[in-house]
Amino acid sequence: MQEIEIIKPDDWHVHFRDREILKVVVPETTRNFARAIVMPNLIPPILNGKQAILYKERINKAIPKTDNFEPFMTLYLTEKTNKNDLEEAYNNKAVFAAKLYPAGATTNSDSGVKDIKNIMPTLEKMAKIGMPLLIHGEVTHNEVDIFDREKVFINQNLDFICKELPELKITLEHITTEDATMYVNQGNQNLVASITPHHLALNRNAIFVGGIRPHNYCLPILKREKHRKSLIKVATKGNKKFFLGTDTAPHFTSYKENCCGCAGIFNATYCMSILAQVFDDYNSIENLEKFTSLNGSNHYGLSKNKTKIKLLKRENPIVFKKQIKVGNDSISVFNPNFPVYWEVI
Ligand code: NCD
Ligand code: ZN
Repeated sequence: MQEIEIIKPDDWHVHFRDREILKVVVPETTRNFARAIVMPNLIPPILNGKQAILYKERINKAIPKTDNFEPFMTLYLTEKTNKNDLEEAYNNKAVFAAKLYPAGATTNSDSGVKDIKNIMPTLEKMAKIGMPLLIHGEVTHNEVDIFDREKVFINQNLDFICKELPELKITLEHITTEDATMYVNQGNQNLVASITPHHLALNRNAIFVGGIRPHNYCLPILKREKHRKSLIKVATKGNKKFFLGTDTAPHFTSYKENCCGCAGIFNATYCMSILAQVFDDYNSIENLEKFTSLNGSNHYGLSKNKTKIKLLKRENPIVFKKQIKVGNDSISVFNPNFPVYWEVI
């Protein structure tokens, strides 16, 4: 049996939702993570510092007494975001970053940005005050193939932002393609990317094994094996520009297993086990800590966590629970469907 100890991880991209879902999903994250960046795509979205503070209070109430956890809040950027309000919310520490969703890109992104040019004054302000910009990097035009939307976003939008504002701290969230890994790797030092456990574990075949698999449907959608391999390469090498953002995104099982199923994978429960397995499979367990616990905090200018967690490689694969109950419904737990031997102890 093999055992490793790593600095307690951070999750730089989570969806906690609200109300009864929030109460059941928060402990799934706080068990293994010390900090997280919380996404603002509620209905209605978190648009200002006051809403962020109230949301943070609801999150804090859901943290088990035994866990030490700090949520970092975000603002949802719209074309109406007032840059002075944004600056005030950032300076007051009500929010840590702002999230850019192209309008219609994903779950609850209807209020998102239609034309990047309309928010350039806000982005300039963010660059000036050092506030990080988090980007859902996909175009939304119907005529662009769903598998190409990240690449097209990089060419049509990200490249423009990076050239106009090289001093802006940008995280390209949940990257899925070789194009994104290359662009970020070659980009300036302020440009980094987060990667999810499901995009490291699976390629797009997983959406269609023997039938349609709604629990493997998320946005950006899973891609070809060559793209997964490019993510594996940067993550398992410990490349400083790439770090964990799980994009754990709970939806009721009834909304996933539906004639129009929601996008989002709830992976918080076994995230660290799955990542350890993936890194081990690529003989890179020694770089797990960089990916989960060091590269992200380093980019965001935060100190590293003081506590540690231990993972043990068992002789038999761990048996995943399938669902977590929420009222009369449930949240289905992500299972990559390969043997996972690593357990957080
Ligand atoms: C996320 C959600 O459900 O909020 N869904 C997803 O498929 N990742 C939104 C997002 O991060 O795109
Ligand atoms: Zn997300």
